[in-house]
Amino acid sequence: MKNRLNKDYWENRYQTKETGWDVGTITTPLKDYIDQIEDKNIRILIPGAGNGYELDYFVSKGFRNVFVADFAASPLKNIKNRIPDFPEAQLIQSDFFELEGKFDLILEQTFFCALSPELRKNYVSKMHSLLSDKGKLFGLLFDFPLTEEGPPFGGSKEEYLSLFSETFHIKTLETAHNSIQPRKARELFFIFLPK
Ligand SMILES: C[S@@+](CC[C@H](N)C(=O)[O-])C[C@H]1O[C@@H](n2cnc3c(N)ncnc32)[C@H](O)[C@@H]1O
Repeated sequence: MKNRLNKDYWENRYQTKETGWDVGTITTPLKDYIDQIEDKNIRILIPGAGNGYELDYFVSKGFRNVFVADFAASPLKNIKNRIPDFPEAQLIQSDFFELEGKFDLILEQTFFCALSPELRKNYVSKMHSLLSDKGKLFGLLFDFPLTEEGPPFGGSKEEYLSLFSETFHIKTLETAHNSIQPRKARELFFIFLPK
């Protein structure tokens, strides 16, 4: 399973346009959260960003320290074409688990659910290590049963609480009230702070 969902698997999904998760724009819960952030200098990471439409939104709002990471080349190329003057050093083609550095804010959307479930504990500890002391991990986690079938792999509030609460303060973890229509009542908005 771990090997099946490798870099080639994801690159192939982009090349064959099997990208059902890609809604072509920033989603409302992420937009609404970003709208209330005042400090435009914070270091932000979007891991497993895919086409990373959140980046365009951050840039339009004046955030400059935004880093996008994905191990597929195609979506990063798409971003480069969309925002030609965006610094190349901030477009990182890498395995998430090999990323380095510290960030004040990390955005999650359909990346956690794209990973093989056996990597979930590694995801939690990697996220923790990438956050500054006062950092925040925020975004959306799917709320439907975890089965063998995926990606996307589901989960529940209880599973997320048990996974994250050892190393994170759970500030928010609730059904998103402003989801896009196809994800209504199927995703949890969350804000986790490293302990
Ligand atoms: C389902 S897509 C979601 C893309 C984007 N977050 C969105 O909401 O449109 C999952 C993305 O995670 C990337 N990905 C999966 N595993 C990865 C890993 N270990 N390191 C870096 N990127 C990874 C894939 O290449 C893909 O772009």
